[in-house]
Amino acid sequence: MPPRFLKKSLQGFAPYVPGDQPPDGERWIKLNTNESPYPPSPKVVEAVRAAAGDSLRLYPSPLATPARQEIGRAYGVDPEWVRLGNGADELIAMCFRAFAGAGERVAFTWPSYPLIEPLCGIHEAQPVAHPLEPRWALPPGFAADDSPLKFLVNPNSPTGTWYRREEVESVVAGSAGVVVLDEAYVDFAPSSRLDLLERHSNLMILRTMSKAYALAGMRIGFAFGHPDLLAGLDLVKDSYNLSRLAIVAATAAVADRSYRDHLVSRVVADREWLAQELQGFDFEVSPSAGNFVFVRPPDGIQAAEVFAGLKARRILVRHFSKPPLDGWLRITVGSREELGELLRGIASLLKDAA
Ligand SMILES: Cc1ncc(COP(=O)(O)O)c(C=O)c1O
Repeated sequence: MPPRFLKKSLQGFAPYVPGDQPPDGERWIKLNTNESPYPPSPKVVEAVRAAAGDSLRLYPSPLATPARQEIGRAYGVDPEWVRLGNGADELIAMCFRAFAGAGERVAFTWPSYPLIEPLCGIHEAQPVAHPLEPRWALPPGFAADDSPLKFLVNPNSPTGTWYRREEVESVVAGSAGVVVLDEAYVDFAPSSRLDLLERHSNLMILRTMSKAYALAGMRIGFAFGHPDLLAGLDLVKDSYNLSRLAIVAATAAVADRSYRDHLVSRVVADREWLAQELQGFDFEVSPSAGNFVFVRPPDGIQAAEVFAGLKARRILVRHFSKPPLDGWLRITVGSREELGELLRGIASLLKDAA
């Protein structure tokens, strides 16, 4: 759009730039957006196929109720405490609409999910970044920040850091406003913090089906929270924010728990193996509880060079350009074959640089 039509607050705005998404059919090893290297459950594919028929002429359930009920059953939560979004990203945007007015503060740790700051720009909120401490530890002042809306990602992305239960609870307990605990990667971590919901009515927990459920292409996220808090999301949501096919997929995916558990255990085992292999190349590896590793190449070779060298070999990893992330790479745990190619690529880059 020509800038003259753009609203004033977006003049000069730098949007969130997602990782490269090459066209289907091109041969790439995609380790840049933390998708699953494995297909979704066959039961999900079957259910979606069966649903792709006459009923598509009708609007879907506004609150995605069949999926809400199945998620409630699977996670042992009353469905009144569950909402769905067109990806967790939509739920995050809904939190801005519901809980942070123009000019109000939105707090988040940094480095963390790079979508939050651009969303502040879109919603005319004031971003308040709390830099993480050494080793990506939580900053002491984060809990006491009295912003009406606050984001904490656990396990954190892109660093992979896993915050202990007491650390998370102290942020929630110390916060006057809403705390959104983004657990997009929690399936790969030791445990969720769902149990904190009963004690803290200002807590919302976000999950996604894009990672452990291998459904990034369906765009399904879900939120857990006290019904009074979730009522805020209902006020600002699009009427039919999940398609009929997404609702069917979400319902079938949570019902097939053993398939999800199987994918997760493969990814977790391969994450540990990949970390060891990279350490063998003298990479610094940040401990990760997600489906990715966050690594810094050894002295003498820049992250940007590794990124470009791998891209030339048709392997995509994530490199963020802004400090303090510019020295680091985030690499999704792909299949063993993909990771084998990655490691061969890295070995050859290191050899060329020596
Ligand atoms: C921390 C974090 N939150 C949320 C999301 C978005 O999830 P979804 O694909 O459900 O929108 C991502 C995606 O990578 C993420 O890294």
